[in-house]
Amino acid sequence: MTSTTRITTPAALEHRTVAVIGYGSQGSAHAKNLRDSGVRVIVGLRPGGPTEAKAKAEGFEVREPAEAVRAADLVAVLVPDMAQPQLYQQQIAPNLKAGACLLFAHGFNVHYGQINPRHDIDVVLVAPKGPGALVRREFEIGRGVPSVYAVHQDQSGEAEAIALAYCAGIGGGRAQPIRTTFKEETETDLFGEQAVLCGGATKLVMAGWETLVEAGYQPEIAYYECLHELKLIVDLLYEGGITQMHRFISETAQYGDLTRGPYVVDEHTRTQMKRVLAEIQDGRFAREWIAEYRAGNPNYRALKQADLEHPIEAVGRKLRAAMPWLQPRGEAPANPPATAASTTASPQAKPAEASA
Ligand SMILES: NC(=O)c1ccc[n+]([C@@H]2O[C@H](COP(=O)([O-])OP(=O)(O)OC[C@H]3O[C@@H](n4cnc5c(N)ncnc54)[C@H](OP(=O)(O)O)[C@@H]3O)[C@@H](O)[C@H]2O)c1
Ligand SMILES: [Mg+2]
Repeated sequence: MTSTTRITTPAALEHRTVAVIGYGSQGSAHAKNLRDSGVRVIVGLRPGGPTEAKAKAEGFEVREPAEAVRAADLVAVLVPDMAQPQLYQQQIAPNLKAGACLLFAHGFNVHYGQINPRHDIDVVLVAPKGPGALVRREFEIGRGVPSVYAVHQDQSGEAEAIALAYCAGIGGGRAQPIRTTFKEETETDLFGEQAVLCGGATKLVMAGWETLVEAGYQPEIAYYECLHELKLIVDLLYEGGITQMHRFISETAQYGDLTRGPYVVDEHTRTQMKRVLAEIQDGRFAREWIAEYRAGNPNYRALKQADLEHPIEAVGRKLRAAMPWLQPRGEAPANPPATAASTTASPQAKPAEASA
C-alpha cells in the first residue's frame, strides 16, 4: 500500500473490531484490505490449519474462532459455505456479543435456512463480485471489485451503514455498491456460476473442442480456438461490453456471431437455463448440494475427476508449458473436492483465483 492509495477508515468501522473468520480466498483479501483501511482486524482460525501460519506471517493477530468472535463487534464469516452452519452453531452463536454484526459474503446459508441468526444482532451481506485475489489486487492499485450488499437484520439501526463501511473498507465501495437482498444475491450468484460463468462456459469450451477434434482437426489448434482465445473475448466484454467486442473482432467474426450463435444458444438452451434457475429458486439445488457434502461428496469427486482428466486438459498443459507468462497463476495444484470430514479437519488448499 502506498500512502496515495490509502483510504480513510470508514466511519462505521472506526470503533469496531472486526473478526475475519477464515483466511482463504475472500478472508485473506478482506483482512488485508480492511487493515490497510485503518480497521482493527483479528483473524479467527482453527489452530494448526493450513492457513494459520500464513495469516500470522502476514502480520495478523490470529485467535481461535470462538475467541476472535468474543473480541469482535463485527464477525465476517469467510469459511466455505458448507462449513459455516457448524461454525456458527458451535463457535459464533455462543460467543457473539449482543448487538454485534454478523457478515456474510454469500447469502446461501441464511437464505436456505442453514443458519438462523440470533435475533439480538445485525446480519448483513457484503459480496464482492470477484475472487479474493482480485479483491486484493484491485484494492492495492486503488480500484475495487464491485460489491453488492444486503441487510437481513437491523438490530442496531446501523446495519446498512456498517455494511457500506465494510464495502468501502475492502475497496468495493469505490465501484458503487448495489443494495440487494440475501435471496437475490444467493439465487443470482448460483445461477451465474452454474449457467454462465463456470458451468456454462466450461461446458461450452469442452463441447466446442470435442466437436473439432471429433471432426479430425488437431487438438492443439482446437484448444487455441475454443479455450485460449476465450480470454481475449472476455477481456473485451469486461472492458466495454458487447459493443467493445464488436469493435475489435473482424466483420466475418461478427456476422458469424450474429447468425450462428443462436444455433448454439437456442430455445432448448434457454429452457435448460430456466430449469437451472427453478432448481435454485425452489431449493432443490441447495438440498442436493448439502446432502452431497454430508455424504462425503462421492458424486462431486467423481464429476470433478472426470473434468480434470478430460483430454483438453492434457493438451492445455502441454501448450501452456510453452507460454512462460502463464506459469505463475496457471498451474495451481488440482485439488480433489473437500468432504465434510476434510473441511472440518484438513481442508484442501485452493488456487488463489478460485472464484464464484
Ligand atoms: N472464493 C470466491 O471468490 C468468493 C467470491 C464471493 C463470495 N465468496 C464467499 O465467501 C465465503 C468464503 O469463501 P472462500 O472461497 O473465500 O473460502 P475458502 O477460501 O475455501 O476458505 C478457506 C478458509 O476457511 C477456513 N476453514 C475451512 N473450513 C473451516 C472450518 N470448518 N472451520 C474453521 N475454518 C475453516 C480455512 O482454514 P484452515 O486453514 O483451517 O483450513 C481457510 O482459512 C463463502 O461464503 C463464499 O461463497 C467467495
Ligand atoms: Mg458463488
